[in-house]
Amino acid sequence: MSTLIKGGTIVTASDTYQADVLIDGEKIVTIGHGLSADTTIDATGKYVIPGGIDVHTHLDMPFGGTVSSDDFFTGHRAAAFGGTTMHIDFAIQPKGATLRETLDIWHGKASGKAAVDYGFHVAITDLPQSVMDEIKNCPDYGVTSLKLFMAYKGALMVDDATLFKAMQQAAEHGLLIMVHAENGDAIDILVKEAIDAGNLAPKYHALTRPPELEAEATERAIRLSEVAGSPLYVVHVTNAGAMEAIRDARARGRSNQIFGETCTQYFFFTKDDLAREGFEGAKWVCSPPYREKYDQEALWGAVASNALQVVSTDHCPFWYEGGKDGRTAGKELGKDNFAAIPNGCPGIEDRMMVLYTAGVRGGRFSLNRWVELCCTNPAKLFGCYPQKGTIAPGADADVVVWDPNATYTITADKQHQNTDYNLYEGMEVTGMPSVVLSRGRVLVQDGEWKGEQGAGKFVKRNRFKM
Ligand code: URP
Ligand code: ZN
Ligand code: ZN
Repeated sequence: MSTLIKGGTIVTASDTYQADVLIDGEKIVTIGHGLSADTTIDATGKYVIPGGIDVHTHLDMPFGGTVSSDDFFTGHRAAAFGGTTMHIDFAIQPKGATLRETLDIWHGKASGKAAVDYGFHVAITDLPQSVMDEIKNCPDYGVTSLKLFMAYKGALMVDDATLFKAMQQAAEHGLLIMVHAENGDAIDILVKEAIDAGNLAPKYHALTRPPELEAEATERAIRLSEVAGSPLYVVHVTNAGAMEAIRDARARGRSNQIFGETCTQYFFFTKDDLAREGFEGAKWVCSPPYREKYDQEALWGAVASNALQVVSTDHCPFWYEGGKDGRTAGKELGKDNFAAIPNGCPGIEDRMMVLYTAGVRGGRFSLNRWVELCCTNPAKLFGCYPQKGTIAPGADADVVVWDPNATYTITADKQHQNTDYNLYEGMEVTGMPSVVLSRGRVLVQDGEWKGEQGAGKFVKRNRFKM
């Protein structure tokens, strides 16, 4: 079965040009003119872009006394509606488990449900010698990135010795180290002090995780990786100080080794959102927390100047009012104590639209840079380019026909994310997908779901090359 996407403007990280895209089976086979196929999709007046890749998600993840509310079907359907056709999720090692066992648990969550393609990072929480020895097998498992948390003391956090040893192994075996960079020890003290003082409202989540503690951990991770010789990718950078640590490392000759992402929501919200009326602020509780307007400007500048290379979502949704009507428990767990609010926010559906609107139309970066940040750099850094992340012969036919003029008002009522709120509620976006294809199959067309549970495949990724 062949499909021709006809009359559109192809946009890649480097080029913008008019041509038709011929898909045969699961692959793009030809780009040109005068082509024909079994089916034609009219893309006149639209952009033809690679499917978005979100390298930072948490679907069906046990966390904060509950489990994130999107699974590998609902999260995938939401992703597709927003123009994202691949994501990489974190398989979190239960204490005492091997990495193989960890990945098997996460494969089990995706099996029979996946509707878009996906990969896994393995998040190490426990590193006895046997697991150290197992790290070298990860590329055979199709996993070439390891995540370590420098925060969440008593839960996911590892100490510097563990982080450094993992970095040494990663350097030897071609793996990319990812870090959640916040100083978990200092945060633990600040949280206890706030609770003792009776400061229990959601806003204290932001006040007990100050930006300096993210900048410090970012700098520490960078210096450790420089000594270990491992590549480093700092996830969810929120503030100027942390960003500057990455920017400066890259400027001193480490641009092939040190990388950073921010997440869509950090451009839009500040710590004041956590201080909204009543318990409303809980919707914005995630870690690291939202910062200041000044930091938002620093992040916009950083993604434009390549100080940061990727924008992901950290999609980790929880219900605002959970624990009833078949819902998993959610933000209400922390009604009386901010420290018990599950950390995380939804956003996998919104990323491409919100960034197109505020980033491209807002004059923050070019159309090509948008594709680079959301599709191409994620594929390159995480070992699946050019199979994913571009429009080229031989690539998987993960293609989005993007209508740059369509408007849509984001609202929880219409979203496909399995949550009862949306951070961007009421925001009008201009530019959204009109057709979304995953390996040649139409998943979404003109707002209608045409995808299939179980059709998404695990993507085995290549080793990181410095
Ligand atoms: O608050 C967040 N970000 N929740 C998900 C886990 C993490 O730290 O990425
Ligand atoms: Zn994190
Ligand atoms: Zn995360």
